[in-house]
Amino acid sequence: MLEPMDSFFASRLSGYDEHMLRDIEGAAEFYPYTASLLPSGPNRRILDLGCGTGLELEYYFNTGGTAALTCIDLSREMLDVLVSKFPGKDIKTFHASYLDIPLGEDLYDAAISVESLHHFPEEIKQSFYRKLWRALRDKGIFVLTDYFAASEEEEIAMAEEALKLRAEQDIPAEALVHADTPFTVQHEISVLLESGFSRAGVLRSWGATSVILAEK
Ligand SMILES: C[S@@+](CC[C@H](N)C(=O)[O-])C[C@H]1O[C@@H](n2cnc3c(N)ncnc32)[C@H](O)[C@@H]1O
Repeated sequence: MLEPMDSFFASRLSGYDEHMLRDIEGAAEFYPYTASLLPSGPNRRILDLGCGTGLELEYYFNTGGTAALTCIDLSREMLDVLVSKFPGKDIKTFHASYLDIPLGEDLYDAAISVESLHHFPEEIKQSFYRKLWRALRDKGIFVLTDYFAASEEEEIAMAEEALKLRAEQDIPAEALVHADTPFTVQHEISVLLESGFSRAGVLRSWGATSVILAEK
């Protein structure tokens, strides 16, 4: 059964961090690596899309990162854990869908999204990436660390399976449910470039997770 996205994660909160670090190949390395790409310093601003409990921010703050963080997530419960982890840090949280909430213009030096964007089809991602592009400052970066399909066949098979389950359960296309529909890295990069990013490429990979860096 497909579950609504927010309750899927809220109901798995207990043991969530341990599960991610233990069961996702490369997690112990890709969280610190992702954080190491983020800017730090006075007046620096970072947007975290689908921040969950803030695993990707632990290394950032533990190594002295000082940017102001804006963190968006569908799950209030995950956001509460994130806030409790980083007392005294400059963090604003928004309990919302990053697909719907306005992100503003020319505001952020960097945006980051870890293990969150592999649930959406191309038309949704494209308008979201255009919105994200506008929210970045000149030469701003987007660090996308996510689950990617190993081949076009796998991408198509997973998208078809999700569509089949939606149809069987009578779930409308616009409802946010938890169904993994990862793109290949090549597909993701082409959508980023079509959405306005000037450059995008893979920096590192661990199992099914890759880190893509895109530049405004
Ligand atoms: C697998 S978790 C990853 C959380 C965190 N980034 C990490 O790596 O531990 C995916 C997160 O994305 C959030 N999410 C999924 N779709 C979202 C959306 N449209 N808007 C905001 N958050 C979303 C979920 O609520 C969940 O917390």
